[in-house]
Formats: sequence, structure tokens, C-alpha cells
Amino acid sequence: MSQKIEKKNDGEVRKLIEMAIEARKNSYSPYSHFQVGACLQGKSGNLYMGCNIENAGYSATNCAERTAFFKAVSQGENKFKRIAVVGGKKGQELEFCPPCGICRQVMQEFCNPEEFEIIIAVSVEKYEIYLLKELLPLGFTLNKS
Ligand code: THU
Repeated sequence: MSQKIEKKNDGEVRKLIEMAIEARKNSYSPYSHFQVGACLQGKSGNLYMGCNIENAGYSATNCAERTAFFKAVSQGENKFKRIAVVGGKKGQELEFCPPCGICRQVMQEFCNPEEFEIIIAVSVEKYEIYLLKELLPLGFTLNKS
């Protein structure tokens, strides 16, 4: 379950993972105690951090990935290169946390599935990179006109 990683991107990948780990510190997860952080890189180079934000009405919960996407889009960026995601139970080791189906569909809205990279990490050393098309085959889109 892993992908080759271009050497030239190593520094950027590390930075994204570090910032996802940082973003996770703001996780608001009093119900699941599962803390997730994300760092999204726009094509401009700007980085957007996100954490999961839970709610007593469970369905109002927002995942870390979508928090990062919605922050970015609301700030005027809507083309993206890659995202790093880290997650794990509060006080425990990080575990691989692949994005949920709803987050994959949000990615599909704004990203080229052939190019957009999803980095799931348990540390800056240990991570896997997938293309969106691998995690969301036959993703649904509509023509934008
Ligand atoms: N969660 C994320 O933030 N991202 C994911 O990719 C999967 C799950 C959050 C939602 C909820 O707050 C907690 O993790 C447990 O499901």
C-alpha cells in the first residue's frame, strides 16, 4: 500500500506533515477523542491547516481535511497540490488515517484526481502518498459552466 515519492518533494512533504501534526493540537473532539490534523498545499504554495471539529449533534462534525479545504476556498484559493493528514486517539501514537468518503468527494470538487496527492502519515519519516484517483476511483463530477 505505498507509492514512490519524488526526492525533490521530500522537504515539502516533511513540512506538510509537521504542520498537520501542529494543526492536530487544535482538534475539538470531546466525543470520539480521535484527533486529526491536516495541512493542505494550494497551487499558490500557501498552506492551510485544519483539524476535526466535533458537535453534540454528531452529523455536524467537520473533518480536518474539510476544515482545511473550506478555509482555503473561503480565502480565495481553489486549486490544490497535496494534503497531509495525521490522526490518532488522544494521548496515543498516531495511526494511518485515510480521508473519509465525504472528504474525498470534497477533494474531487477542487483537485485533479490524476495529480492531487494525499499524504497519510504517522511521523515525518513514516508516511504513504496516494493520488486522489486511487482513493476515489470513478469520482463524481459535473461540468462547471
Ligand atoms: N475524522 C477526520 O477528521 N478525518 C478523517 O479522515 C476521518 C475522521 C474525524 C471525524 C471525527 O471527529 C473523528 O475523526 C472520529 O471519526
